[in-house]
Amino acid sequence: MRVLGIETSCDDTGVALYDEASGLIGHRLASQAALHAEYGGVVPELASRDHVRVLLPLVTDLLKDAGPGRLDGIAYTEGPGLAGALLVGAAFAHALAYAYRIPAIGIHHLEGHLLAPMLDPNPPEFPFLALLVSGGHTLLVDVAGGGEYRKLGESIDDAAGEAFDKTAQLLGLGYPGGPAVERLAREGRPGPYHFTRPLKESGLDFSFSGLKTQVLLAVRAGLPDRQAASDLARAFQEAVVDVLVTKALRALAQVGRSRLVIAGGVGANGALRAAFDQAAQHAGVSVYYPRLEFCTDNGAMIAYAGIRRLAGSAHRLEFAARPRWSLEDIPPPPA
Ligand code: KG4
Ligand code: ZN
Repeated sequence: MRVLGIETSCDDTGVALYDEASGLIGHRLASQAALHAEYGGVVPELASRDHVRVLLPLVTDLLKDAGPGRLDGIAYTEGPGLAGALLVGAAFAHALAYAYRIPAIGIHHLEGHLLAPMLDPNPPEFPFLALLVSGGHTLLVDVAGGGEYRKLGESIDDAAGEAFDKTAQLLGLGYPGGPAVERLAREGRPGPYHFTRPLKESGLDFSFSGLKTQVLLAVRAGLPDRQAASDLARAFQEAVVDVLVTKALRALAQVGRSRLVIAGGVGANGALRAAFDQAAQHAGVSVYYPRLEFCTDNGAMIAYAGIRRLAGSAHRLEFAARPRWSLEDIPPPPA
């Protein structure tokens, strides 16, 4: 069985081909980062148009390189995400599926992220706890099995990635901000700044908007030089990572899991990985990260989730995009 995966929920166009027997055959990614950079964030209409522009050439190129071989299904991100961007991927997937008379399989974007470590040579076994940290979401999810997801906590305001992006904007680092803040933070010294950690001491929900305000106030108070900006970036990153580690360990203890998966774009952060490695070793927990390129949005995670949901899915004509869609509302995968 072979599935083409299509990801267009935000500002990356990702396509991939996954084969049940031989694994990931190939993948392509077109990032729109440069397109949105001058606006300091994603402009939804520009995102949709760029998906339209690049999707067909990316898929053509991918299939050409993969050589001949039957396609058994086309998986696409059905939601959550930007409505127009999702519709481009959904319409493309359904048109192609109609032409081939094969099923189009709507995938929940966060299920894609949660399953991304399964693309590794040494994937985690179920059950595990997942921390999903992306530009749109910060979630702790108990994963009893594929498709069996229970949300334990989430951000009550900004997502962790959003806080990185806003901090980057305040520091004049451009978009997307996570990698730029991480680079700057490497030159930072501990000490000059300290930010409080909202909600750290209790529960499993997160709050990052207060942290953003603290950064704003520090920037307004004046950053005399690059060293000061680096110190601030470091203190900000430490605050985010500290909260994420504390909450994940609390959740692991609460549900009694011994495996932790870190998924989503912020999971690419080196300081975060170092802190999690150390904490996990201390707690006797195994921690799993997707390959760096599969932390951020990509087609491979959608193709993989599609393979798991292919059995029993049928060719159908009607479809929808779901800009808002809870992970707990997705149907269980076929047995
Ligand atoms: O998972 P993703 O590609 O898209 C969403 O589904 O949101 O995550 C993108 C987010 C952005 O906010 C970006 O700034 C953040 O992940 N990010 C990082 C790093 N790389 C990407 N944040 C911190 N450090 C990084 N190295
Ligand atoms: Zn994502």
